[in-house]
Amino acid sequence: MFEVVSKQTLAPKVTRYVVRAPDIAKARKAGQFVMVRVGNQSERIPLTIADADPQAGTITLVVQEVGKSTAIMSTIAVGDAFHDVVGPLGSPTHIEKKGLVVCVGGGIGIAPVHPIAQAHKAVGNEVISILGARTKELLIMEAELRAASSEVLICTDDGSYGEKALVTQVLERLIKERGKPAEVIAIGPPIMMKFVAATTLPYEIPTQVSLNSVMVDGTGMCGGCRVTVGGETKFVCVDGPEFDGHAVDFDEMMRRQQFYADQEKLAYEAYLAGRAAQGA
Ligand SMILES: Cc1cc2nc3c(=O)[nH]c(=O)nc-3n(C[C@H](O)[C@H](O)[C@H](O)COP(=O)(O)OP(=O)(O)OC[C@H]3O[C@@H](n4cnc5c(N)ncnc54)[C@H](O)[C@@H]3O)c2cc1C
Ligand code: FES
Repeated sequence: MFEVVSKQTLAPKVTRYVVRAPDIAKARKAGQFVMVRVGNQSERIPLTIADADPQAGTITLVVQEVGKSTAIMSTIAVGDAFHDVVGPLGSPTHIEKKGLVVCVGGGIGIAPVHPIAQAHKAVGNEVISILGARTKELLIMEAELRAASSEVLICTDDGSYGEKALVTQVLERLIKERGKPAEVIAIGPPIMMKFVAATTLPYEIPTQVSLNSVMVDGTGMCGGCRVTVGGETKFVCVDGPEFDGHAVDFDEMMRRQQFYADQEKLAYEAYLAGRAAQGA
């Protein structure tokens, strides 16, 4: 059992959990994730390790409630425990000293960008982070990204905080003003990652994206998370989650993400209705 030692709301429907998981806290590297089951009957859900404290033996997960499993998770209180947390899984981010690295995080994608920015800064790279959200209240982890970056540029869709712009507009301006960075890393909604990759392609800037395909086992056996990268089939859970953004077939990935949308919606609504009927 994996005890939840702290729980904090970061934005509407976005919660940070600090979870006791000493072995994972020691072993994890930037870019890796865990598979979590809240209870012994729950489905497994993949969540990025947003931070870890090996001394305290804890990992940090930042979770957006989007469906039934993440809604059940939101009912977990401090002192309760997740039934299992398996990991660290996935290939770690390739980190080396290379100069200027631009980290682009959109919405909940800011959480998985955080350990990558930290790791690049730790090896001496200059890290500029571009953080985007729909509105001010949805922007998360600004202080953590400021600590992990030399500069942070913020934009919101409605202009309620930072610049009124999309992350791609801020990125393009940065490239024009500062020259080509050594690498761009983008994590956020697939459509955002697709357009970040399209922005960097003409400049031939190496661009990594972290894919959030639907996963079942997280071990490369079920095939649920397959994506096409450079014309080849890859499994996000074992070959990724990071891939060359210029080679990913985003349109296919977005179609596959919608495969179970109807069933997911029904399960979420039925769960919320049940909870409301119990007065919870
Ligand atoms: C490697 C990886 C790391 C992730 N890290 C985080 C994280 O740090 N924080 C976070 O909030 N979310 C993260 N996700 C997404 C998270 O796993 C899903 O939001 C979660 O599984 C949804 O479960 P649900 O039952 O609540 O929703 P469902 O009812 O299953 O789905 C609701 C909606 O979420 C989408 N969805 C379902 N499963 C996934 C999935 N596996 N990945 C992405 N979208 C999904 C569906 O298309 C649907 O639109 C990550 C996904 C991957 C693959
Ligand atoms: S989740 Fe099963 S193969 Fe990746």
